[in-house]
Amino acid sequence: MFKLYINPANQKGHINAEIQGHFSEHLGRCIYEGIYVGENSDIPNTNGMRNDVVAALKEMHVPVLRWPGGCFADEYHWMDGIGPKETRKKMINTHWGGVVEDNSFGTHEFMELCRQLGCKTYVNGNVGSGTVQEMSEWVEYMTFEGVSPMADLRAANGSKEPWNVDYFGVGNENWGCGGNMTPEYYANLYRRYQTYVRNYRSDKHIFKVCCGPNIDDYGWTEGVMKTTFRCEEGQHGFMDGLSLHYYTHPEGWIKKGSALDFDDKVWYKTMSKTLYMEELIKHHTAIMDHYDKKHEVGLIVDEWGTWYTCEPGTNPGFLYQQNTMRDALVAGINLNIFNKHCDRVKMANIAQMVNVLQAVILTEGEKMILTPTYHVFHMYQCHQDAELLESYIETETIGLEDEYQVPNLNESVSLGKDGKIHITINNLSVEKDYEVESILADTKIEAVCGTILTNEMHAHNTFENPNVVHTEKFEGCTFKDDRLNFTIPACSVLHLEVTKK
Ligand code: AHR
Repeated sequence: MFKLYINPANQKGHINAEIQGHFSEHLGRCIYEGIYVGENSDIPNTNGMRNDVVAALKEMHVPVLRWPGGCFADEYHWMDGIGPKETRKKMINTHWGGVVEDNSFGTHEFMELCRQLGCKTYVNGNVGSGTVQEMSEWVEYMTFEGVSPMADLRAANGSKEPWNVDYFGVGNENWGCGGNMTPEYYANLYRRYQTYVRNYRSDKHIFKVCCGPNIDDYGWTEGVMKTTFRCEEGQHGFMDGLSLHYYTHPEGWIKKGSALDFDDKVWYKTMSKTLYMEELIKHHTAIMDHYDKKHEVGLIVDEWGTWYTCEPGTNPGFLYQQNTMRDALVAGINLNIFNKHCDRVKMANIAQMVNVLQAVILTEGEKMILTPTYHVFHMYQCHQDAELLESYIETETIGLEDEYQVPNLNESVSLGKDGKIHITINNLSVEKDYEVESILADTKIEAVCGTILTNEMHAHNTFENPNVVHTEKFEGCTFKDDRLNFTIPACSVLHLEVTKK
């Protein structure tokens, strides 16, 4: 029996809804086909956006969407994507598959997508190959509401009203595909570029994201924080957020590994590499703490998820992969880690939303399936804008090799906006069920209901069998006073909703 201690009296911080954010790049079939099919498509759409995909995403409550990249962002020239579609420039997407990018999805279309989803916007600017003027004018085009060359151009293109840009990324992976810069060089460019990311509306602050490290590049975090962090009482400094990118590659960056063909050993490797996220957050936070003692700068994990060898027979530049119960566990673990570090992690964006890497949705022509990862996000909605509660779970170590041993259970607990206590708990074992007794300090439990996602480790949905992995009502709880008892099955993600007396 494993004990889960919860202290509802100790609220540890606010869990921003944006921790469950998404990312959509001009990459493979994410934007084109996956989301945007154009007004003239036979696939039912509203202003070009697939109705089936938008409906599923709304059901899951996407809080924020990042666009247009990724590596694509530092090659994207936004003016190519405005105006009449027939005259928009065509270009080769050199990063991703060498296909023709016709720019039919641009700023107006992105804003329309976010309007349909009812989500916040996170636009990623171009530092690698773009100018300060270009970035400055893009912000003016999107957000200025008076008379100005860019506001007039926007109106001429059909949008009189400005949009909200909630988050703005000043470059992406500038240590790599975004210009191969050193931290000091980038940090100085950041200071310059961000100056012209103006807040034209006093009531709408644009949250500026500075390009942060890749994985454990602590030197980058140090170099960038040292040069860019500026704290002024009562004012926003140069930066509001620092990004972090970390993908789970079960077999390493070169070999990566198959999405569907893996054994127990690779399963535990994947779990262990996923749990590494917590160490990364702690170490980068420690460096940030040195400069930003008040935690004013958010750590923005704006790329995370599994990255396997792409599906056989697909364009290797499209990064299309299947998604199993293993991905469900990776999602559940990461989201629990982000919750537990919500004092620093203010947003996270899984890569990517549709048809790319750890997608929540896969499409094929007019067909669409929801992946196991989708169901996890659906279950974890309860934590959006909730308050993290103090919790601790007893665990034992499991796994097949010394190097890749992991705790059997992983959890986070919050007090939701609905006044209920939400427990999300993952069983990382491929074979063992575990009995859990949860003790909720000074609380009398009135009712409990639950939802579970469980199956064998390779289980996944296909276009032929779209419902193999799905959530079910969890009926296995008993409770009395402050105690809640249940058995969590092997390989599962469980959400319990507790009503207090
Ligand atoms: O998500 C795929 C790519 O991974 C992104 O374009 C890039 O930022 C990262 O290297």
